[in-house]
Amino acid sequence: MSERDEGLYDALLHRGVSRRTFLQFSAAMAAALALPASFAPRIAAAVATAPRMPVIWLRGQDCAGETEAFLRSSDPSTSQLLIDLLSIEYHQTLMAPSGTSAEAARIATMEKYPDGYFAVVEGGIPTADGGTSCLIGGRPFADVVREVCGGALVTIAVGGCAVDGGIAGASGGPTGSVGVSRVASDAKIVNLPGCPVNVENLTATIVHYLTFKELPVTDSAGRPLFAYGNLVHNQCERRAHFEFGEYVTTWGDEAAQKGWCLYKMGCKGPEAYANCPTVKFSEGLSWPVKAGTGCIGCTMPGFWDAMSPFYRRLQSPIPFGLAPGINADQVGIALVGGIAAVTMVHGSATFVREQRNNALGRRRAGKATKAARAGRVDVVEAPAEIDEATVAIAAADLDAAAPEIPTTPPAAPEPDAAAPAPAMTAAPEIPTTPPAAPELPAAPEPDASAAPSGPAEPEVR
Ligand code: SF4
Ligand code: F3S
Repeated sequence: MSERDEGLYDALLHRGVSRRTFLQFSAAMAAALALPASFAPRIAAAVATAPRMPVIWLRGQDCAGETEAFLRSSDPSTSQLLIDLLSIEYHQTLMAPSGTSAEAARIATMEKYPDGYFAVVEGGIPTADGGTSCLIGGRPFADVVREVCGGALVTIAVGGCAVDGGIAGASGGPTGSVGVSRVASDAKIVNLPGCPVNVENLTATIVHYLTFKELPVTDSAGRPLFAYGNLVHNQCERRAHFEFGEYVTTWGDEAAQKGWCLYKMGCKGPEAYANCPTVKFSEGLSWPVKAGTGCIGCTMPGFWDAMSPFYRRLQSPIPFGLAPGINADQVGIALVGGIAAVTMVHGSATFVREQRNNALGRRRAGKATKAARAGRVDVVEAPAEIDEATVAIAAADLDAAAPEIPTTPPAAPEPDAAAPAPAMTAAPEIPTTPPAAPELPAAPEPDASAAPSGPAEPEVR
């Protein structure tokens, strides 16, 4: 049986993967997919019995970064081997045929496995000028993508360019590059952005499909949540330095050598969703922040525009259409400055008003004094005389209403001589001597006959 005809598991064994390594791989896949460890046997069973799925791998406007991601390895991981061992029927870089025979191989694969192959798309898809910026076999790449993805079991868009056009689709790009979902809207697509894609996430997506016969749950951008559900910042090994305000401020400074936080160097970890800090690259060796550079948010939609400038903090998310140069720090400084200015203006206005009121009061007092001295003080009319009879009636009413207040204390009650005097309770007698100690039981008389005998004297010869 040739390697091509055998199942995935047998092919792995033939490539030198031991049973133990295979089981470890299954456990690692369960962890990568954010599944409980109890799913590892199910994954192992699914992969062990899976056929070698045919793959048509298309490349458009790209740098081959995704292809490199799983090809360039001195010690390929099981993940990389697994992708390699899928039956890659068409790959412009890896296949031996070229020209019309290569295109014939692609068409033959599609006919041989209708609805039974994976489509992997790498690179952007130009749409300007009839898509003529990228032709495959003389046809616009967009047409080829539509044709292949339309008939695929699932389509996996790998890398930022295949997801949304990437650098070719960034502002100023003349080719009108877009992602797969814009061209093959009817296809069943999962997006794996990144620059490049992390091969572990590609393998985990395929393993998920082999195990559950469906694609993993995705977010609104079509990215699997197991890989793109967490902020880089929340998983970063330098996060403690962020919390303590320990930042690198110049490349290569002492803080950089100590591995402090790269936020002030423009790290986009707080804005980017990816599992790079936990899965890492190059067989788990490293990832951007560990290597000493900030995250540039390469998994985020339109990151070439949205995350630029890469080595400075992002502009404010507030839509300052009139002042596009303002960033979040500057907004904060402006707010503090504005509040301070308002406080100062308010304080000054209050001070001026009080000074003016005081001056006004002093002027009025001065005028009143002068008028009094000049005898021009207004005489206040005395109230009309109160009729004496009215006063007498009012006093009588008050007397009737008010209770009489006694002027002498009430007399103490006379003691009743006939009543018996209350008996005094006798005070309890306080003992003057401590209580007698309890009698101890008499010690048993030693029984001389029962005394244990010591060891026998050694016999001297
Ligand atoms: Fe966050 Fe970046 Fe700092 Fe890491 S280096 S804690 S991702 S800002
Ligand atoms: Fe990209 Fe940032 Fe990960 S730059 S590779 S998302 S750490």
